[in-house]
Amino acid sequence: MRVVVGLLLLLLGLCGSGAQGEAGGLGEVAEINQNTDPKHAAEESTEQTTKQTTCDIWTELRALRDMVVELNVHVELLQRENSVQATELLSLESRLTSSESKTSDLEKENADLQTRLSSSESRIDQLERENAEKPKVAFYTALTDAGTLGPYNTDITLKYSKVFTNIGNAYNPSTGFFTAPVKGVYNLQFTVMGYNAGNTAVYVYKNTQKIMANWEQNNNGVPEYFTNSLVLELTAGDEIHLVLRSGHYIFDNSNNYSTFSGSLLFTL
Ligand SMILES: *[C@@H]1O[C@H](CO)[C@@H](O)[C@H](O)[C@H]1NC(C)=O
Repeated sequence: MRVVVGLLLLLLGLCGSGAQGEAGGLGEVAEINQNTDPKHAAEESTEQTTKQTTCDIWTELRALRDMVVELNVHVELLQRENSVQATELLSLESRLTSSESKTSDLEKENADLQTRLSSSESRIDQLERENAEKPKVAFYTALTDAGTLGPYNTDITLKYSKVFTNIGNAYNPSTGFFTAPVKGVYNLQFTVMGYNAGNTAVYVYKNTQKIMANWEQNNNGVPEYFTNSLVLELTAGDEIHLVLRSGHYIFDNSNNYSTFSGSLLFTL
């Protein structure tokens, strides 16, 4: 724009000096052309050239003015476009900023989750180790295939000889004793069958102490059962066994009617 204005001023300057003393215009040029005085021929020729130049300058000046107007329109258009683009740029910038802050939030969340994940993983590892180290205790037995046991004239320890399950080997079939391998809470259960031979009675002992008695009258030729269970807090080495009361009997055969079982619920 500045270049155009400079050019314009230059041309105006030229025009001012060339057209000094002249009214200007095409009519005058035609009039001048009719002058045929030979003694002034050279001067007139120069003057004519000057006038011709002035005329050209005016024509160019008009053309330039038109161009300037056109350029102005163009510049306005460009300015408008520029302002629209500037607005778009601002909005893009603000969107970018918000995206960036969101990204950084997500990165932070991700880092938090990673931390929590790795702490969970190490906790899982610890639990797996604990679980692997945790003692496993479970047994399930049945008394005998021999049929009726008793009556005897003294209490006798019941040795459950058919061992079906004995994880941890805490039950000993040769003594009939269950020995707690670790301190914990244990679940114990037994079923006693009596059949057609008198009364049944079974005691539960913890070490040397009787902790439960069971008794059932059975003299009508009908099979009778009782089942009982205990949940006991035992320390390592505590022993549990079942005792057949003197003068009473218990029945079992290959049908596994009379059973004794137990398991560690959890350690303490
Ligand atoms: C008693 O237990 C033994 C050993 O598991 C099994 O072979 C037998 O079939 C059981 N008896 C009955 C009647 O299920």
